[in-house]
Amino acid sequence: MSNVIIMDHPLIQHKIGLLRRKETGTKDFRDLISEIAMLECYEATRDLPLGDVDIETPVAKATVKELQGKKLAIVPILRAGLGMVEGMLRMIPAAKVGHIGLYRDENTLEPIEYYCKLPDDCEEREVFVVDPMLATGGSCVAAIWRLKDRGVRHIHLMCIIAAPEGIEAVQKAHPDVEIIIGAKDERLNEYGYIVPGLGDAGDRIFGTK
Ligand code: PRP
Ligand code: URA
Repeated sequence: MSNVIIMDHPLIQHKIGLLRRKETGTKDFRDLISEIAMLECYEATRDLPLGDVDIETPVAKATVKELQGKKLAIVPILRAGLGMVEGMLRMIPAAKVGHIGLYRDENTLEPIEYYCKLPDDCEEREVFVVDPMLATGGSCVAAIWRLKDRGVRHIHLMCIIAAPEGIEAVQKAHPDVEIIIGAKDERLNEYGYIVPGLGDAGDRIFGTK
């Protein structure tokens, strides 16, 4: 069963509280999504390998730690996942960025793929899939299958708000994928929206609707 990490750090919880408010406008919403992604990235990259390097400080020689240059990629699920990319890149600027375009059919809630462009060498990379919302789980499950079809073996899923149904769906389909979230909400409503949630993340990030 995949590991689920709920990030209970006070900064993340405070920012999620602001994000949920219906009066939070597009600019603040976008900034908060980016900041939360940056803070979640801290946890998602916890196991990156470090090596020792000899350097000189202004005072003395020292042996310091350095990331061993593991190849990384960030893959946002369009559209809302795009809001998390900048915050991630601030922490791991050398990562490549792939894109998977999916939208949920309004009636069936099934994910429909309309775009996929991944780094040529994505199978050699550790991949962080980002999408603020994990509702039924259909979109994230499909995106992860897409990556596995391309040979990617090390995948982390980073979301901000998750419904229990979505977590269960990802765990069932992809027990090897670590799931990092900021909050686990109560349930889905009859339209497949997360309750209490924050509404439609894509619309709130891009100001559509
Ligand atoms: C939202 C969200 C997820 C998906 C979650 O995207 O960003 O990708 O719904 O729902 P699921 O877990 O039930 O699949 P949406 O389909 O609204 O597309 P958008 O980001 O382009 O608005
Ligand atoms: N997608 C969203 O953007 N919000 C939800 O609550 C569910 C799916």
